[in-house]
Amino acid sequence: MWLYLLSVVLLLAFGWLIRDRQKIGDVKDKYVLITGCDSGFGSLLAKRLDHQGFCVLASCLTQKGVDSMHRGNSSRLKAVLLDVTDRVSIQKTADWVQAQVGEKGLWGLVNNAGRAVPIGPTEWMKMEDYHAVLGVNLLGLMEVTLTFLPLVKKARGRIVNVASVMARISFAGGGYCLSKCGVESFSDSLRRDMQNFGVQVSIIEPGFFRTAVTNLECIEKDLHRLWDRLSPEVRESYGQKYFEKYVQVQRFSMNVLCDSDLSKVTDCMEHALTARHARTRYAAGWDAKLFWIPLSYMPTILADFLLSALLPKPSQSVR
Ligand SMILES: NC(=O)c1ccc[n+]([C@@H]2O[C@H](COP(=O)([O-])OP(=O)(O)OC[C@H]3O[C@@H](n4cnc5c(N)ncnc54)[C@H](OP(=O)(O)O)[C@@H]3O)[C@@H](O)[C@H]2O)c1
Repeated sequence: MWLYLLSVVLLLAFGWLIRDRQKIGDVKDKYVLITGCDSGFGSLLAKRLDHQGFCVLASCLTQKGVDSMHRGNSSRLKAVLLDVTDRVSIQKTADWVQAQVGEKGLWGLVNNAGRAVPIGPTEWMKMEDYHAVLGVNLLGLMEVTLTFLPLVKKARGRIVNVASVMARISFAGGGYCLSKCGVESFSDSLRRDMQNFGVQVSIIEPGFFRTAVTNLECIEKDLHRLWDRLSPEVRESYGQKYFEKYVQVQRFSMNVLCDSDLSKVTDCMEHALTARHARTRYAAGWDAKLFWIPLSYMPTILADFLLSALLPKPSQSVR
């Protein structure tokens, strides 16, 4: 009986592996638009897809990013300015992309642009902090997707949305985890709607990687800004020690958890664009697979206990 069950499981796993490894054909006339190519995963993915022969349309927030994309890549790679929070900029890019792809449509749209700060205890946030992060990570991603969807449908292509493992478990307050939860929800409904049109939608859930988003200096500077603007009563309820330990925890988590091998994430993006059957979700990084995802399946009381143990106690804590 057990042997029979084991053989069925092995056979299913083997079948899944073969299915997972099947690739699409020629990539030479396939266009892929990537957002946020100034640095990090976007920049690396653009270079790697260019190397494979894709026609890469790399969009950057800054002119510096556009110039650096044009240097050292093939003439197939074209770069353009795009601010995903600006409707006029999105429409301008859409007209440009339409002219590039013509009747072929857009094979891939990689929604990668994102920002993380402000991150910190929820009580330290103001509404504009949520607007700033959700504007890029969620509303920007949604507007870009809706704008380019007709072109992706034409090519029966792929949409790859970069969420985060933080969509599964909210480690810190601020708009970041919230926005990534929204990305998952948006992608789930989009995937079900689009499968009727041959469009595959994938979600990437990276753990912690060393990029500008996880830049410690930037996070620490922003935490000081949040702390300094608190009212004296709120600041007193936490205490200076709490703030210092909170900064230390961020420093420790970034130093211990951050992986420098960004290709673990771009490999997932490449699979989603080149596999015949793209996966629905890709978790990237050891911390995502071994820590955050198992933690997200634990009973909430246990997950809360473990996460609270990592954080300092405010001076006026009643527990
Ligand atoms: N690194 C991680 O640990 C990690 C983990 C999970 C998920 N992610 C996600 O992965 C994606 C890529 O981040 P990354 O880690 O590669 O960091 P990154 O190097 O900072 O990349 C993010 C890119 O988005 C750009 N961007 C910011 N605001 C924009 C806007 N309004 N319009 C267009 N582009 C904008 C940034 O441009 P500037 O550089 O000019 O600001 C930057 O090029 C993000 O969605 C991030 O949330 C990262």
